[in-house]
Amino acid sequence: MTFARIVGTGSYLPRRIVTNDDLARRIDTSDEWIVTRTGIRQRHIAEPDQTSSDLALEASRGALAAAGIGAGEIDLIVVATSTPDFVFPSTACLLQAKLGVKGCAAFDVQAVCSGFVYGLAVADSFVRTGQARTALVVGAEVFSRILDWNDRGTCVLFGDGAGAVVLRADERPGILASVLHADGSHAGILTAPGNVCGGKVIGSPYVRMDGPAVFKFAVRVLDEVARETVAKCGLALGDIDWLIPHQANIRILEATAKRLGVPRERLVATVDRHANTSAASVPLALDVALRDGRIRAGHRVMLQGVGGGFTWGATLVEM
Ligand code: UT7
Repeated sequence: MTFARIVGTGSYLPRRIVTNDDLARRIDTSDEWIVTRTGIRQRHIAEPDQTSSDLALEASRGALAAAGIGAGEIDLIVVATSTPDFVFPSTACLLQAKLGVKGCAAFDVQAVCSGFVYGLAVADSFVRTGQARTALVVGAEVFSRILDWNDRGTCVLFGDGAGAVVLRADERPGILASVLHADGSHAGILTAPGNVCGGKVIGSPYVRMDGPAVFKFAVRVLDEVARETVAKCGLALGDIDWLIPHQANIRILEATAKRLGVPRERLVATVDRHANTSAASVPLALDVALRDGRIRAGHRVMLQGVGGGFTWGATLVEM
């Protein structure tokens, strides 16, 4: 049996850090409100000339170096992003060119904050069915570009960044199971409802969110999909060594861990330093916890996404 194994991870955060106090100097908010309601203390913001593919490139280089393989060995690139460089070509194709390779399949997936988990599930299928041997899966976002910096209800929540993993075909497990879901009837509670038409942006290019509705939805579906995923591989919740939910709000993360009976010290949280980086949040947190030595070979890690669409999903991985 062939599995897709994570053989390297990498991440990248833009150099510029914006603290809650920085924001409180410009809009009606406070460090106290942001920390209490979200757990966020700071976020990284890309320079005006940095795009998602630039961030993706740095994260990918880190993942390839960790895996000890060259870009020429990649035969599939999947980039999850809601903030692509262009309408087209895809950010994955731009990343491929920046990596200096050509020929392999490259495409973007759009599932907002669930994008990385969606991308990982797609790449896993390619590897398990023999269509790819080495896959690069990246979550990369410059969410700062689609925020209304005068809307305190959204702009304090997000940040920019990228995370990447290299998957390789192996007889040892690997990705054990993935479960993906969507419910488009909830599209309106988290959306950037604009498009480009006739040379203009039609509608709003900014993120709009019904925070409390998203909060309740997220806690419920993260609980459900974790149970579904462990059941799919014949395991129990107690078999999870590390829980890495999408990093949106520390209260969502802690509520999810509590409902699942995962001890707080087994929850990986980077939302305090990174804020919500949408599709980048899960691979960023995974890379942090691997590099600081918390996650080790043989550990089972539950990765979870939830976001606009509405979309949600989980992947259980044995490292
Ligand atoms: O990637 C997935 C997408 N995002 C999420 O998962 C986010 C999910 N939702 C949340 O994290 C929370 O709902 C928020 C952090 C967005 C908001 O927390 P909340 O506890 O649900 O607060 P709320 O929206 O009910 O707002 C409470 C109050 C309001 O004032 P009034 O109406 O009670 O006077 C807001 O106007 O807080 C006010 N408020 C703020 N005050 C200071 C909203 N944003 C801010 C702010 N600073 N930045």
